[in-house]
Amino acid sequence: MNVMAIEGGLPLYGEAEVHGAKNAVLPVLSAALLCPKATIRSCPLLSDVWAARRILEHLGCKVSMADSERILQINTSSANGYGVPESLAGEMRSSIIFLGALLARWGKAHIALPGGCRLGPRPIDLHINGLRQMGVRIIEQEGGLICSVDGTLKGADICLRYPSVGATENLLIAASLAKGITTLRGMAVEPEIDGLIDFLNRAGARIYRKEGCLCIEGVEFLHEVDYTIIPDRIEAATYLSAAAATGGEITLKKVCLPHLDAVLPVFEEMGCTLKTKQDEISLSAPKRLSPIHSLSTAPYPRFPTDALAPVMAASLLADGASRFEELVFQSRYLHVNQFEKMGANVHMEGRTALVNGVAFLRSARLHCTDLRGGAALVIAALAAKGVSFIDELQHIYRGYDDMPAVIRQLGGKVWMISSGSIETGEKERKKEGFSNLGYAAGIPLAQTQGVL
Ligand code: UD1
Repeated sequence: MNVMAIEGGLPLYGEAEVHGAKNAVLPVLSAALLCPKATIRSCPLLSDVWAARRILEHLGCKVSMADSERILQINTSSANGYGVPESLAGEMRSSIIFLGALLARWGKAHIALPGGCRLGPRPIDLHINGLRQMGVRIIEQEGGLICSVDGTLKGADICLRYPSVGATENLLIAASLAKGITTLRGMAVEPEIDGLIDFLNRAGARIYRKEGCLCIEGVEFLHEVDYTIIPDRIEAATYLSAAAATGGEITLKKVCLPHLDAVLPVFEEMGCTLKTKQDEISLSAPKRLSPIHSLSTAPYPRFPTDALAPVMAASLLADGASRFEELVFQSRYLHVNQFEKMGANVHMEGRTALVNGVAFLRSARLHCTDLRGGAALVIAALAAKGVSFIDELQHIYRGYDDMPAVIRQLGGKVWMISSGSIETGEKERKKEGFSNLGYAAGIPLAQTQGVL
């Protein structure tokens, strides 16, 4: 098991590029099942992308990736499968988005229930109800869904009771090849939805907005497509939070500024200075951050739930009390226990968290609890005094393309060690020119052997 070691207390400085968005690439990978060939550019290197790739390959597609160029090529001409077993679906939440694509392509699908972060109950009723309106017969069995369509999918007027991102994506993909027109109301309007619409339209779908609805005129087939994934607004918010937390000054390139409209004012409230130009944003943090009066999450265009934990990490050292309210998922504070190990002062009540800023955080041995919570621990560790060790990194690998490399590029001191080899880590650190702090996670290094 790998462990991330972070020597905190140094301001982040410099420039880095944001990668393609995880939440944009995953629905595009399932929609690609409807095209004979797809070339996906700016494809982030993430374990969730590998999980989607394994599903495509299991379905009979040929997938190749030029890692250095982040270009993924998918050829679906040999696709023949319609089943996604538990071993593959359980790897990530987005496996459910293959349902719409399988039904559009084959008129049938056997799909196990999805995995993903444990953020409280994550029902799929909106996906199921919408697809049923399009003529899909769905049998819900323990552990999965057996779905079939008589003839072809039919266009329908669907109104979602909540703007679920995943349900909107599933219905958009399915409706692209349905007979007739589908209208979607109450749908999600996240930038990643626009990304998916753009991908589908470039492949020959007919999707447009009219009077607050999404209209999808079903076509008979989609054609070959070459598409570039939009920048990751959550990755951008994460590194901006890290710069804010460490009193740093960074520039992020290849960002889409309008997608950050709800996030940037929060950094200004914390006293950071922002400068923008075209697809770049620079953040310069004060010595001590101001607290955030009150921040609630909500569907786009409001503050994204995925950016809550990273921004909360920055507020741990603010000069006063910050209030957070999570209104999208039930359980998004799993990382708070880990913050407390570092001396943070956080009081939780239901969906609300009150952070009383402290003067300093101490290094600690930390466990990632989920993807964004894991990123928040990295930020807190970068801001803490001393060397922290973070494990359960599989959560971070799901959604951040080579996070250690980005942090190093911004001057942060991070290195990977294998668990149980803290002595080796110490040697590597010396080799790489890191200072010998004498203490790791609050424990004298000499005593840490075997702790991990
Ligand atoms: C997507 C994002 C995730 C982000 C979330 C909200 C991807 C791969 N993941 O997840 O990073 O945090 O949007 O912005 O894009 N709900 C129902 N019934 C349903 C579906 C959802 O009640 O059928 C509820 C969920 O329980 C949750 C809320 O709707 O409380 C939002 O979920 P949804 O928008 O569907 O999130 P995901 O698509 O899973």
